[in-house]
Formats: sequence, C-alpha cells, structure tokens
Amino acid sequence: MKNISYNEAKSRAEKLRKLIDDYRYHYHVKNESTMSEAAADSLKHELSELEEAFPKLVISSSPTQRVAGEPLPQFTSVEHSKRMLSLNDVFNKEELVAWEKRLIKLGKGVKSPYFVDLKMDGLACALVYQDGELVQGITRGDGFVGEDVTQNVRTIDSIPLVLRKSAAKDLAGRLEVRGEIIMHRKDFDALNKDRQKAGEELYKNPRNTAAGTIRQLDAKLVAARKLYFRAYDVFWDGSEAEVADHQSKYKLLHGLGFIVNPMARSLKNLEEVEKFINEWEQERLDLPFDTDGVVVKTDLLTDYEQLGVVGKAPRAAVAYKYPAEETTTRVLDIIISLGRTGAATPVAVLEPVDVAGSTVQHASLHNQDEIEKKDIRIGDTVIIFKAGDIIPQVKEVLKDLRTGDELPYDMEKVLDEHELNFKRDENEAVWRAIDTNNPSILARAVEHYASKSGLDIEGLGEKNVELLIEAGLVKDLADIYSISVEDIINFDRFADVSSRKLVESVQANKRPKLDRFLFGLGIRHVGSQTALDLARHFGSLSALKRASFSDLAEIDGIGEIVAHSIVEWFANSSNQDLLNKFNKLGVLPQTVQKASGPLAGKSFAITGTLKDLSRQQAAEKIQALGGDFHKTVNSTTTYLVYGSKIGDAKRKKAEKWGTEVIDQSSFEQLLS
Ligand code: IVH
Repeated sequence: MKNISYNEAKSRAEKLRKLIDDYRYHYHVKNESTMSEAAADSLKHELSELEEAFPKLVISSSPTQRVAGEPLPQFTSVEHSKRMLSLNDVFNKEELVAWEKRLIKLGKGVKSPYFVDLKMDGLACALVYQDGELVQGITRGDGFVGEDVTQNVRTIDSIPLVLRKSAAKDLAGRLEVRGEIIMHRKDFDALNKDRQKAGEELYKNPRNTAAGTIRQLDAKLVAARKLYFRAYDVFWDGSEAEVADHQSKYKLLHGLGFIVNPMARSLKNLEEVEKFINEWEQERLDLPFDTDGVVVKTDLLTDYEQLGVVGKAPRAAVAYKYPAEETTTRVLDIIISLGRTGAATPVAVLEPVDVAGSTVQHASLHNQDEIEKKDIRIGDTVIIFKAGDIIPQVKEVLKDLRTGDELPYDMEKVLDEHELNFKRDENEAVWRAIDTNNPSILARAVEHYASKSGLDIEGLGEKNVELLIEAGLVKDLADIYSISVEDIINFDRFADVSSRKLVESVQANKRPKLDRFLFGLGIRHVGSQTALDLARHFGSLSALKRASFSDLAEIDGIGEIVAHSIVEWFANSSNQDLLNKFNKLGVLPQTVQKASGPLAGKSFAITGTLKDLSRQQAAEKIQALGGDFHKTVNSTTTYLVYGSKIGDAKRKKAEKWGTEVIDQSSFEQLLS
C-alpha cells in the first residue's frame, strides 16, 4: 500500500465500506450481483489493509467485522448449536507464510500437519441428525442464526436421510454435519438453456443459483434442480475427544454416507501445501463444480481448538484464494503507446496488482471512444480483468470512490502536443501516425520482425534495437542484415562476444520460413495464422506478390479487410523497395510445399495423454498428412482428440466451436 495520510485513509475506507455493503446487501439478501465476487473481495482486501495500517479506523459495523446473510423472513430462524464461522482469506504465498508464523507464535506447541481441501463455491449448510435421522437443515445465516430449510435439503439426494452405521461412531444422540451445497456447472448450464428458450432472465452463476434455490419456499422446485452436498465437518457432544484430526473427520463422514472431496488430505508442511495449491490451480477447472481456493487447517483438533477464534474466523484455518481474473486497482496515469503500424493506443498505468497469477501495471484503453464511454479518469479506482488470459482491460470505473480530484483525459489534445502528426480515418477509432518512419515506430517494427513468432533473432530486444536505430545503423528492417561486428563492437552494450553473437544470429536467419517472414513484415491484420495460411496457399513470396484482391479473398480464413491490407502493402513503393533490398542482401524466404494429403484442411488439438504417442509425435504425423495441429481448441479446430479421459473445460470449448471430439482409436483410423 502506498503512503497515505490518516484523513485520506478514513475517507477512502468510508467509501469502500459503503460500496462493499451495497454489494453484500444485493448479493446475500436479494440474490443479485452488483459486481463480481472477485472485485468485491479485492475491495474488502484493500479495506482490511487500510484498517490494519490505521487500527483507529476499525468500527464494529465495518464489512470486515461481520458475517454475511440476514435470514429471510419467510423461513423460521434457528439458532446454531455452535457458531458457523467463516474463513479469513489469503491471496498469495507470502500471506500464507505469515499465517503460519502467527500460528507458531500464538500456539506455542502448534505444528503441522496441515489438512487441505478445495474450497467449494456454494453455500454452507448445517444438518442435524437425531439418533441417526435427519431432523433439520439450517443455512448459515449470520453464523449465529440461520434459516430452517429442512424440507428443501431433504430433496438433495446426496444428503442421507438416515446415517449409515459406522464402526467409528454410535448414532445415538445428536450429531451435526456441516458442508457445502453446490450446483454442478453442467446442471447450471442446462437450467439456463431452458430459461433462455422460455425467454426468462438467465442466472448468473451456479453458486447464486444454488443459494437462491435452497431458499425457495416450494420444496418441489428445489427437487427439480439438482443440488449436491459435500461435507467438511462433523461434531457431537465431546467429539473432540473421539476424533483426533480433520483427516479422521473426513473418514468418518464418508463412512456415515456423505460425499467428501477425495483430494482432501493431510500434508506434512507448508511446502507440501503450496505444492497442493499449485497442482490444483488448473486441475480444479476440470471438476464438475466451481472452486475458488484451498482451505488450509491445522490437522490436529487440539491445536485447532486451542488457537481459538478471532472476529468471525478460526485462527487455525485460512482460505487460500486463487488469483482472481478480476481485481480492483487505481489508474495512476494514462500514456500513449506507439505500435509498429503507427497506431497510437492509450494505456493506463496502474498501481501494480496481481491478476490471475501475474503482476499487472498497464491496461490497454484501446482508444479515446472507449475512454469516454467508460469515463476513465486519471486517479480513478477501476475493476480490471484479463481478456483472453493475456492483456488486462478496464471493465468498469468505481465512480462512487471518486474524490473529485480525478483528471479526465483528452487524447487528441495530447497528440497535438506530440511532435508527430496523427490522423484518424472516418469510421475508425484509432489515431495513426502519418509519418511511419518515426524511430520509435521503426523500433517496434524491428522488434516485431525479430520476435519469437517472427524470425526469432536473438539479441534484438527493445534496448539493442533502439541503440541501433539511434546510431543510424538501422533505417529499415533490411538494414539489420548489413550490420557488421566492427559497427557495434565499440558500443557500451556490446562486448566482443555479444556483438559477434548478434551478427551471427542475424546472418543465420537469411533463409527464413515464408510464413515467419510474412508475419515479420508487420503487414496490418496478418498475424501468425494468416501468415501460415498465405504461405501454404501461395508457396512463395513472388506468387503472393502477384496475388490480386480476389485471389486473396477467396482463401478460407482471409476476409476482405485482410485481403485489402495485403494488396495495399505490396502496392506501396517503399515496401517494394524494402523487398528488393532484402533480396539484394540475400534474404530469401524458403518456398513452401502447398498443403496436400488426406488431412489437408483439417486441424487437430489433443487433450490428456495418448497411449504410446507423445504430442510431438502426434503433431508430426498430422502434419505429414497435410493436417494442422493446434495447442488449444479454437474456432478452426476440426477434431479434439482425447487421451484417457476428457475434462469438462475442454469438452465445453469443443462444444462451443462445434469441434468433433474423438478418442485415440478413431484418431488412429484417420492417420492410417
Ligand atoms: S471448512 C470455519 N472446507 O467456505 C469454517 N469450508 O469462507 C471452516 N467452504 O463457511 C469450513 N469449501 O461454507 C471448509 N472444503 C471446505 C470448504 C469450505 C467451501 C466454505 C464454507 C465456509 C466458507 C469459509
């Protein structure tokens, strides 16, 4: 957290509380959502950091100090036999380590093992059994008092109405089981499909739907929706003496007839816990239900009880939340980034924040229209998210958090102050530099040419490229081939070895693959896939040069805009000069065998492990028969081949794109 004064923190905390409270009210009482849970979590995290830095700010009505959910009036309220606690969240490994340190300090004799389980995204529920028979189901409510939803939970198949006899526990008396009620994604999707057909409003996510369902007054409606219960706690009078650890509780629960998560386990130390967390980060996406983290507890119940409760959560347990796809942060500045085609893109400089596993400091704002539409100002608090897993974007401005000091941004004015001239075509939102010989545009173009997906030339990163341009050695893409060791050996950045290495790696790249060369030229709209399509279709640079607009537009996957851009590029005289220069310097892209073979036009992706066939081998076989191999399923994938089993996430993607899902033996038939 950056340095802020007490007064700033106070006013920020007040605004945060109001916003979080609005969110919670809508979420818990009305079953509606004003923002994603991840964004709300991130605001809560900021609030608790502020309260930690300024303890005077803590007030009892702060959202950090209370448990959610007010009982609905329609249901009878029931007092819990033992308070239903919740868990404090940690968001990274450092916070997990800090939690362990606190445990060791407070609990003196406390030590690992730790018990870990995935944190299911549903709603907590307590089930009361009297002499082995289900007598009551209670929602969490505010932790002390919940709603009696007995009739509804009785419709859930995975909740035993009568407990199974267990050697570990005689069933006489009162026993309470706690766990999570969840809805499987597949049932959620089916439900929404039906609602769509019926023209009804769609539900937001499985968790909200499960919560809404369990609070239906009509038990028949609940029965019609498939819900599941997975248990994580059991106790009865004096249970502490009879069960030593969480591991044994899970075993007992299983024996009594409940579903418990099979991946839950006892682990020796925090390193093993971290390993578990890492392993499940991706794996969990293939589970039938949503999870958002890992619950970590000291396994021994004596430790667990001894450490006690602080606020609303036990000290001995914590929820590690997987990095959110969405979070909140502040816009510190807006700058302009100049791309290799001369396009000027406004970029938000952000207060660094973790999103989906990496630290984010910039977000593309696309163009002025977008800035105006979302009303993004310097100083704003914004919700950011990762689009397509890579480039962060601003989703929304939290205008309620404004102080009045935020500065609106006018890109045109900023561009006017630049030395460059920019123009904006009619119907285009993008401003482009008129003079593309500008050194910073050339630098981006050279970096692109040398990039991994381009010619993959080592040593031509940002700093070196800028230096070569500044020294006047590189005035266009082809000039890199004229650089000699003598030209650069005296620069500070280049020693004897590195200058030789650079020149060697450039010279070693004089026979590039045609598709990589085409990509490297930086023709607008020609990405790696289009470059590959062009190379396969035309086979040589000279054939492509001769292609007309209609020759190009005929090719599968190449639209009119792309075709137009290619024709325009080759018609431009300075580009023709550039190609001649490449030619004179001996840069001759390899010609390509046109795609032919029984699998021409078909593309494949693979999931899971195939028997006796590595992915590399499979890819080679596919390509040898003229087919294409992709790492992931996309809109152009014809077949998804699966190994031992297929995960839910992959199957969904395939369904979305209409990709045919085949097993290994059908795949081998296609190869034979
Ligand atoms: S153990 C003190 N294990 O997460 C509560 N809880 O934020 C300890 N949850 O109220 C509960 N999956 O509703 C535990 N495997 C799991 C869980 C889990 C989901 C929920 C539960 C709890 C909330 C805490």
